[in-house]
Amino acid sequence: MKTLITGGAGFIGSHLVDRLLAEGHQVTVLDDLSTGRMANVQHHLHNNRFRFIKGNILAATQVEEAIKGSELVLHLAAAVGIPYVVEEPLKGMLINVRGTEVVLELAHQQGARVLLASTSEVYGKSTAVPFAEEADRTLGPTSIRRWAYATAKALDEHMAYAYQDRGLGISIVRYFNAYGPRLDPRGYGSVIAKFVIQALAGQPITVYGDGLQTRSFTYIDDAVEGTLLAATRQEALGEVFNIGRAEEITIYRLAELIKEVTNSPSEILLVPYDQAYSHSFEDPRRRHPDVSKAARLLGFQARDPLVDGLEKAIQWMRQQLELAGAP
Ligand SMILES: NC(=O)c1ccc[n+]([C@@H]2O[C@H](COP(=O)([O-])OP(=O)(O)OC[C@H]3O[C@@H](n4cnc5c(N)ncnc54)[C@H](O)[C@@H]3O)[C@@H](O)[C@H]2O)c1
Repeated sequence: MKTLITGGAGFIGSHLVDRLLAEGHQVTVLDDLSTGRMANVQHHLHNNRFRFIKGNILAATQVEEAIKGSELVLHLAAAVGIPYVVEEPLKGMLINVRGTEVVLELAHQQGARVLLASTSEVYGKSTAVPFAEEADRTLGPTSIRRWAYATAKALDEHMAYAYQDRGLGISIVRYFNAYGPRLDPRGYGSVIAKFVIQALAGQPITVYGDGLQTRSFTYIDDAVEGTLLAATRQEALGEVFNIGRAEEITIYRLAELIKEVTNSPSEILLVPYDQAYSHSFEDPRRRHPDVSKAARLLGFQARDPLVDGLEKAIQWMRQQLELAGAP
């Protein structure tokens, strides 16, 4: 199968590249390397079934070149993470809305099936936990920058459905905090990356708010498996799936766990939201997926327990820091 992965040099995208090439498929990556890293795909450059194009999803000519001949498009390129979107709201919205429109339009012209990467963030601060795909969403006011990301991704989903009405084969996945090796050690938006970096440096592990907000974390191998099932199964056409693990943990407990696994002397420090963000900020109290639809239609179940996944992610980050010459 000929597959284009937008954002394929990023965290999730590069693991999809590994898996598809290992299965014998042809893969093209289109990535502007804004948050992705060449190091994530470097090991495939000698493979004649792999093609890397440094380019921007906002540039229709570059997307057109990349998409030519593709049967499947995994659309992952995006401005990712709340800190990014809070600090660069205009840029984030442009990439996440306009860029997706370009990709969907050209995939439609090409006749390729599309998998759209969306996010658990679209549920906003809904209290209807666990979040079911068809449940109502609850977002805060537009004056709070955070909700721009959820709104842009929800608009992407609406656009995908609109293209489906025109005959495009689409499926959507909503990731719940994926983590694992290649999680960017610079820590964009990932609370796990941020805590691990702090713990390994012996600095305070900074938990925002009271730390009792909960999240569900998904190991990268599970995220890849769920993505490919949603991208290729007939039953998944026109459907949206939560890709997550039915295990919920408070952010404070996550900090404790990372402190334990890294054997770090770091203290855990509670930081009020207004000190962490320059604009007003809202943080959902709970974020927990209903995983029954993915189980029923795709036979998908996330398997890796958090402690096991954390050990692998931490080992990788340790190696990266050593390579970078950190003390
Ligand atoms: N990691 C998670 O937990 C998570 C959670 C929810 C949703 N998602 C979604 O999954 C997708 C992948 O996320 P990720 O965690 O791998 O993040 P990532 O930042 O590692 O990957 C995004 C990739 O897109 C590329 N990119 C950004 N803007 C681009 C542009 N204009 N043109 C071309 N390439 C561009 C980046 O360089 C990067 O390689 C994103 O769509 C994200 O919104 C991820």
